[in-house]
Amino acid sequence: MSVTFPPGFLWGTATAAYQIEGATRENGRTPSIWDTFSHTPGKTENGDTGDTAVEHFHRRAEDVRMMADLGVNAYRFSVSWPRVQPTGRGPAVQRGLDFYRGLVDDLLAHGIEPVLTLYHWDLPQELESAGGWPERETANRFAEYARIVGEALGDRVTRWTTLNEPWCSAFLGYASGVHAPGRTDPVAALRSAHHLNLGHGLAAQALRSVLPARGKVSVSLNPAAVRPLTRSPEDMDARRRIDALANRVFSGPMLKGAYPEDLFTDTARLTDWSFVQDGDLAAIRQPLDSLGINYYQPTVVSAAGHKDRGHEGSGQEGGAQEAGESHGGHGASVHSPWPGAESVVFHQAPGELTEMGWSVDPTGLYDLLLRYTREAPGVPLMVTENGAAYVDKPAADGTVHDPDRIRYLHGHISAVRRAITDGADVRGYFLWSLLDNFEWAYGYGKRFGAVHVDYETQRRTPKSSARWYSKLAATGVLPEVPIG
Ligand code: FCB
Repeated sequence: MSVTFPPGFLWGTATAAYQIEGATRENGRTPSIWDTFSHTPGKTENGDTGDTAVEHFHRRAEDVRMMADLGVNAYRFSVSWPRVQPTGRGPAVQRGLDFYRGLVDDLLAHGIEPVLTLYHWDLPQELESAGGWPERETANRFAEYARIVGEALGDRVTRWTTLNEPWCSAFLGYASGVHAPGRTDPVAALRSAHHLNLGHGLAAQALRSVLPARGKVSVSLNPAAVRPLTRSPEDMDARRRIDALANRVFSGPMLKGAYPEDLFTDTARLTDWSFVQDGDLAAIRQPLDSLGINYYQPTVVSAAGHKDRGHEGSGQEGGAQEAGESHGGHGASVHSPWPGAESVVFHQAPGELTEMGWSVDPTGLYDLLLRYTREAPGVPLMVTENGAAYVDKPAADGTVHDPDRIRYLHGHISAVRRAITDGADVRGYFLWSLLDNFEWAYGYGKRFGAVHVDYETQRRTPKSSARWYSKLAATGVLPEVPIG
């Protein structure tokens, strides 16, 4: 029986500014925390940086034509904050805004719906030097930046996303330190989580004040599909702790206007949370037009005592993962991204592994879609990232075959369909990623693209998964997985 999606479903691909643009010193752009971090020896594989990336800044038109050839009807991209508002304060740089206006116009001319993310991790370095996300002022700066971009592009962009994966910004950036800015201070991470929440709420309000009525506001989270290793009370408690720190720390304030009580208890020896001020929770809980879910793999946890079968909380190597994805890349981190839950042990989920060492298990995506259907009643969902890295080598004739990726996508997109059948209101799916790019601490070694990039020549070659995905986008019917 064929697997068919509702008409109007968005079939997109996703990228992020620092991972693809390059041109980091052009037109007045100032460094972001990722420029600083990637230029710090030892922070990324091979010392890779986003200086050149895949030259999207200069190949924008070609890249949009490529998307049009693939027949996708949506594109999720992010705006580089330091490109449009260098240093994170003051007036916008018109040439920076012009780049995104041009991109959006190219997309619209090809019938591709732009889905704009304001923050995909590239905080202007100057704001980090002034304290970064642990400081409340960064949330205010973010709201101002949101208003600037909203005013400039609100006439042509309908779909707006405030933050991408605030969990990674807060806990990988400030606790485990494997992401920019590379700090290892658990309290700073908890403060960051709150100020990212606040930044989301203030930015959502700023957007609403400048967007036309048709404007839609969203946020993309990377909730962990957390599973206990056993049903023992200890493992169930480990599950609860990670669920609080990975999921409810964001969904609580954003969807319900409250932090979960157990999060306060679990972190009480670190902080009394007095940085949460009166009125913050009301500011954070803003109506959402959709909720973005990013998913790669499930997370399996247990209480301490299972060390033979897993790895303790720092979660950067082998079987150890955090929030469904490690992102650690270069070397093991000795610092846990889980303040107050450092003793929880992470296990490799069953299933085949991708090149990241992440397990292939679409049931995690299904579970999350049903969970957020319950937790955010009436709010449509979008899968704003899903995909896999594999070793994709061009064959002698130049073609790139990636049957593993097709299988991964087929499995996960089938899970989305099952979730819809079972009551989830899912409106779109965005394949991570349009093209191979700078995979953060892993550098260019991990290829997530549906389109292959030869980093010597910048030549783009659609892989077989891109052809497969285009059939899906054209028909709304899930194509079979090719044999072999
Ligand atoms: C997500 C990020 C995205 C990419 C994928 C693989 O966590 O949002 O930029 O790195 O993982």
